[in-house]
Parts: sequence; C-alpha cells; structure tokens
Amino acid sequence: MIIRKNAGELERMRRAGLLVYKILQELAGMVKEDVTTQDLEAAAEKMMRDAGAKPAFKNYYVPAAGSEYPFVLCTSVNDEVVHGMPSAKRKLKRGDIVSIDTGVQLEGYFGDSAITVPVGEVPEQVERLLRVTQESLEMAIDKARPGNRLFDICSTVQQHVESNGYSVVREYVGHGIGSKLHEEPQVPNYVDRRNENPRLKEGMVLAIEPMVNAGKPETRVKPDRWTAIASDGSYSAHFEHCVAVTADGPWVLTRP
Ligand code: MF3
Ligand code: CO
Repeated sequence: MIIRKNAGELERMRRAGLLVYKILQELAGMVKEDVTTQDLEAAAEKMMRDAGAKPAFKNYYVPAAGSEYPFVLCTSVNDEVVHGMPSAKRKLKRGDIVSIDTGVQLEGYFGDSAITVPVGEVPEQVERLLRVTQESLEMAIDKARPGNRLFDICSTVQQHVESNGYSVVREYVGHGIGSKLHEEPQVPNYVDRRNENPRLKEGMVLAIEPMVNAGKPETRVKPDRWTAIASDGSYSAHFEHCVAVTADGPWVLTRP
C-alpha cells in the first residue's frame, strides 16, 4: 500500500527535507583534498543532534545486508555506488568524486537526499557523468505529477542515462518515504514490466535516486559486507531528492 500524506504531514516532511538539504550543503562545502570521509560523518552527526533530529541511517536495519548500518552518512567514493562507510583512513584526493547520502527523522517524519561532489577539478568525462545523472533526476522529478504513472519516472531516468552511454544500477532502487525511511513503492531507475506500475496520486512522496555507472551496470558488495562497487571499476554517481506529488506539480521537499 502506498501511504499518501496530508498537508500537515507534508509540512513535517518539508522540515526534515530542508534539514537534510542544509546538512548536505555544509558537507559539500567541506569537501576538499585531505578531508576524510569521517570528518564529514562527524560534522553531519553534530548538525543532526543540534537540530534535534535523529540520524535516519545509523542503526537502520538493512535486510539485504543482514545487519544495521553503523553511520549517519553513506560516503561512496569513485567506483563505490552506495553504502560506502565513512572512515578516518579515507582521505579525499583531487579528482575523486564522493557521493554523500544521508537522512534524518524529525517530528516523526523522514527526509533523505544524496549528492555527488567532485574533489577539486575532475576530468571532463567525470563532470559529464555527474551532469547526466543530475539531469536524469531533474527530468524524473518533473514526472511526479498526479495522473502519471510510476514507470514514467523509471523510464525517464533510464532513457536519459542510457542515451548518454551510461548504465543504471539495478540492485538498488528509490522508494516511498514518510514516517518510515522506506515505504512502498520501490522506485527503480529502470523499467521492468514485471513490476507494478501504480498511478501517481496527490500526497504520495517518492525518494527518487538515480545510481549511474559510467561503465556496465553490475555491482558487487565488498568484503566489508556494505560497500557496493561497480564490478568493472567504473566511476558511479548518485543524486537523490524526496518529491511530493501535489495538485500543483512536483514539490521537491529536500531543497528550498
Ligand atoms: N539513500 C539510501 C536509501 O534510501 C541509503 C539508506 S541505506 C542505509 O536507501 F543503510 F544507509 F541506511
Ligand atoms: Co533513499
């Protein structure tokens, strides 16, 4: 069942969304050569506590991993797709890209968003990967309107990504979001006709999160049991926003 949110609930999700936005902006400003992903983690955790919010990811049970995720951020560098774990040993270097994915729970409702940030200057082809991934998210957001269907979102991401020569990851998908971090429906970045294709209705809130590999789509999980990497070692980008379906069109909750 897809849970629809009323105006008051959306206002609370908005506050959670704007907090996530603010945190990601701060973290993006910190991303520089020699900063560690643990530095980002510590800053994010402090901002959440100061705002009276609960980190959404820390101790969140992920069935596929069979355990609880131990950090407030996922920091996935270069060929890491998702669930990269912050570490004091991971110093960012020029030319890296780092996906920062985080969520909070505020007043009972969740916000969840991700950005991929270049460390200093990156080659033009890497910039292009980030640009195309972000464009695919924006184009998909525009489909989050009453009367459209879920596949309009899925196909928009897939089409834009593949027509630019990249591939969408299959093993990880977006999701409904509300008083739980993960609600129905799943929001894949590709169309599989075997999946359900519900009509989008006012009050639905979707976390749309394209994960795009520069090379082949396959991923594998590292021996640390969390970090998903592109099997062919290609760079991977990830952007995410929470979007409410409203009568007035898409409302992106995770940015002003
Ligand atoms: N943004 C991702 C998601 O929605 C990451 C959360 S998974 C966790 O699923 F393990 F970090 F909690
Ligand atoms: Co998410």
